[in-house]
Amino acid sequence: MSETKQQVYYPSEDVIKQANVQEYSERYQKSISDREGFWDEQAKLLEWYKPWDKVLDESQKPFYKWFVGGKTNIVQNAIDRHIKGADRNKLAIIWESEGGEVRSFSYYALNREVCQFANILISMGVKKGDIVTIYMPQIPELVFAMLACAKIGAVHSVVYGGFSYEALASRISDANSRILLTADGGSRRGKKIDLKSIADEAMKRSPTIEVCITVKYNQLDVSMEAARDFWFHDLKALPIASPKCETVQLDAEDPLFILYTSGTTGKPKGMLHTHGGYSVYTSTTHKMAFDIKPEDRWWCAADPGWITGHSYIVYGPLINGATIMLYEGAPDYPYPNRWWQMVEKYGINILYTSPTAIRGLMRFGDQWAKRHDLSSLRLLGSVGEPINPEAWRWYYEVIGNNRCPIIDTWWQTETGGFIICPLPITPLKPGSAAQPFFGNEVGVVDDQGNEVPVGEEGKLVIKNPWPGMARTIMGDDDRYAELYWGDYQKQGYYKAGDSAKMDADGYIWIIGRMDEVLKVSGYRLGTAEIESALVSHPAVSEAAAIGLPHELKGNAIHTYVILKANVAATKALQAELQQHVGNELGKIAQPEEVIFVESLPKTRSGKIMRRLLRAKALGLDEGDLSTLET
Ligand code: PRX
Repeated sequence: MSETKQQVYYPSEDVIKQANVQEYSERYQKSISDREGFWDEQAKLLEWYKPWDKVLDESQKPFYKWFVGGKTNIVQNAIDRHIKGADRNKLAIIWESEGGEVRSFSYYALNREVCQFANILISMGVKKGDIVTIYMPQIPELVFAMLACAKIGAVHSVVYGGFSYEALASRISDANSRILLTADGGSRRGKKIDLKSIADEAMKRSPTIEVCITVKYNQLDVSMEAARDFWFHDLKALPIASPKCETVQLDAEDPLFILYTSGTTGKPKGMLHTHGGYSVYTSTTHKMAFDIKPEDRWWCAADPGWITGHSYIVYGPLINGATIMLYEGAPDYPYPNRWWQMVEKYGINILYTSPTAIRGLMRFGDQWAKRHDLSSLRLLGSVGEPINPEAWRWYYEVIGNNRCPIIDTWWQTETGGFIICPLPITPLKPGSAAQPFFGNEVGVVDDQGNEVPVGEEGKLVIKNPWPGMARTIMGDDDRYAELYWGDYQKQGYYKAGDSAKMDADGYIWIIGRMDEVLKVSGYRLGTAEIESALVSHPAVSEAAAIGLPHELKGNAIHTYVILKANVAATKALQAELQQHVGNELGKIAQPEEVIFVESLPKTRSGKIMRRLLRAKALGLDEGDLSTLET
């Protein structure tokens, strides 16, 4: 297999010397033979109000429970623990806006902000178990809002600030949210994005919202509806917003958040995560894979609106007491050195980002990074899609100056944290996420669940439960059991939905999604969502969406549209349809191309054969057509 012949990058002695984990193989074997023992030991490193009676309850597979009987709250470890001693004065968050405004918060200040936010939520009637929808730009208040919900036992549902009102409305309705937290605007490449108007449109479509609290950030003119809309700063000035608030003691299995992610059907799934297991999993993976030291400045350049932001901007790093960097803006605005400028300015030690962002910055050449002193960097990370070796090498050589290991982490919204990733001491092969994290056994299998031969493509499975796993799809246990655990019920394997290969050294090479899910610039989108957005346009009768390789985005969306009778196929309509999908779902879902066709290839049962459309577009062999309708 060609991958195994690739150059292997070994960590320097310096990296090895300071690694939190000094040895993998033996410890890994131990974590597999005594999985519960491993997680028991990690969980004991955190504070609990009451210890658990049982590490893992497998009595209702696949609905696993972790740290059963334990009492905790993620905020106990993310904030409360740190403010008891001198650590309270340590910086928790450094935030910078695209325009260069800076705000920073110590753990002590973070606690104040979170308590005030929590008290405001309580005053609005938010109770334990209520789902609060959050639709904000990447500002500190977004983090405060998440932690405030957690603190009082409410469940947050963060909707990415780039999503459209339709996407926001459907998520509010699915969650039955009574309360929406938003901001007057966000910014991107010098332009102001009018978030509150989008929220207003969404609220018109989702009548469950009774209260909307708006943070003033971009000073945009917004309309406020009496008795429903409140300014955050007005509420914060009232006596109700006291800076003291008890953290509610919860069961380890109480829900922490839901996060919607795209799947094979049009309706996004609300993946549910819980307090106890998720606290243990995110902090352990973060500390071991990224060698986190208490004095580290950590920058995960994702958006908190995605799982990467939940687990590795907010929860894992705060539990580990790191200083986190937040930046609201584009990586290349106003110039392509924007990120490198911030790495230098703040002395960032670890940078964690996506292959799309790396490729996007690489195309501007080396000089933008070389103008800056990036010597504070110790480790680099990648997530969200396979990283092509060319981007890997550029990241390693130009950004990391040939001395920072690249931690390529494979995981999903559903997994809560890293499942496959190297450690800083692991020899690296560009493009491979290396080996399973402690406690996890992964396999590359065929439809029957048998391991495929080394070097051959198969389906990626996780063979065991892990503490950070999603517990269910909110409101749809059956779908959860069927979708993820149904195919390999006999073996008890979790189906990831990715195809992969394993090489002779046991390294995993992720190939990509196997289902109708696309990764576009690292964002996860369902073909069904894009298709139903197209069909919602009055001119469209039927539509199909596929992903085709794209140099920067990894994949680009190409769509095929059958128009209704008597609708003229014009260039203007193509542009209108592209725009329409953008309006319905958000700009990230806007198709690269809309192609008008007379018919779509379908199976006899009427399913669109996207595989065939893809093969045709790429000029490939069209494969097995035995189920094609003729
Ligand atoms: O296809 C895999 C890809 O992203 C999918 C999960 O997407 P999402 O739930 O949005 O979470 C993204 C951030 C964790 C996976 O099924 N993926 C994620 N990380 C990698 C990856 N593909 C290759 N290499 C990775 N490191």
